[in-house]
Amino acid sequence: MPRVLITGAAGFLGSHLCDRFIKEGYHVIGMDNLITGDLKNIEHLTPLQNFEFHHHDVSKFVHVSGKLDEILHFASPASPIDYLKIPIQTLKVGSLGIHNLLGLAKEKKARLLIASTSEVYGDPAVHPQTEDYWGNVNPVGPRGVYDEAKRFQEAMTMAYHTYHGLETRIVRIFNTYGPRMRLNDGRVLPAFIGQALRGEDLTIFGDGSQTRSFCYVDDLVEGIYRLLKSDYVGPVNIGNPDEITIKQFAEEIIRLTGTSQKIVYKTLPTDDPKQRRPDISLAIKLLGWEPKIDRAEGLKRTYAYFKSLPEEDLYKEAHGRAFDKNSK
Ligand SMILES: NC(=O)c1ccc[n+]([C@@H]2O[C@H](COP(=O)([O-])OP(=O)(O)OC[C@H]3O[C@@H](n4cnc5c(N)ncnc54)[C@H](O)[C@@H]3O)[C@@H](O)[C@H]2O)c1
Repeated sequence: MPRVLITGAAGFLGSHLCDRFIKEGYHVIGMDNLITGDLKNIEHLTPLQNFEFHHHDVSKFVHVSGKLDEILHFASPASPIDYLKIPIQTLKVGSLGIHNLLGLAKEKKARLLIASTSEVYGDPAVHPQTEDYWGNVNPVGPRGVYDEAKRFQEAMTMAYHTYHGLETRIVRIFNTYGPRMRLNDGRVLPAFIGQALRGEDLTIFGDGSQTRSFCYVDDLVEGIYRLLKSDYVGPVNIGNPDEITIKQFAEEIIRLTGTSQKIVYKTLPTDDPKQRRPDISLAIKLLGWEPKIDRAEGLKRTYAYFKSLPEEDLYKEAHGRAFDKNSK
């Protein structure tokens, strides 16, 4: 039975990846320090014999006994509300964390895939973003802790590939959504749906003309799986190129939820990217991958999940500092 280590396993994306690798017949070792994750996301897996969970901070030395075929490094605070609250941990997991995991991959002769992000492009001067665009990032701006951690992570991973010959893969993930997102993580989709469910007005930061492109989680997981199994070492964008303005998106959520609330506008936060859309030509060519689930269907599934949550979840404070912003 192949064995995979998934870091960030109790988080949104990590938990969906655990499900997928279990389905593919793997023994899955999930690792997480639960700083933003929740064991509820993987409680359905814990009774399984081919799943084990290690409560561990990957910025500290990582030990796993037995063989490992693959490692997926998804541990990292991922929403602005989180990484602004815990900036040092964010920088550590993208630097010390990846160093530990690269060392483990080298020892076990395992293939390692890292979760990078569209944030490596910063506030992009090129649109849509192709993998050969180097980005426009302010290293000392508030988002620098996340963006630069991810950029360092890519550089370190590439160095282990070129110097040690390690098998590595880099996925640049664009905004993804779906069940198991946290209602209070500050990202635009759960923020809007949470507001609609609580009967509050929907808050847009800025004038709502900034764009985002949202990929449903099942599509993302399929793209990641294909990339892992491919032989391509460079970064690959995985996301949904269907771009929408935040204002149009708020209107879609109003229609979906049937709320009678209105849209209110607040000041745009510093360094908020004005537009975001992946160019996925490389993923189409290399992996034969494109997203299959359109926004109407994905939003329906995600809304059903949020509606099924206990009512107290609607009123839970974000555990991060109150830095309200409506973008990933
Ligand atoms: N969701 C998106 O749209 C998106 C977009 C681009 C990139 N990503 C990347 O994907 C990964 C997962 O994001 P997510 O949306 O699932 O976020 P998430 O917060 O739901 O999950 C991250 C998980 O990592 C864990 N974690 C954080 N630091 C850790 C550490 N030092 N040791 C062990 N575990 C640690 C958290 O407890 C959490 O369970 C992140 O690396 C993120 O940067 C996500």
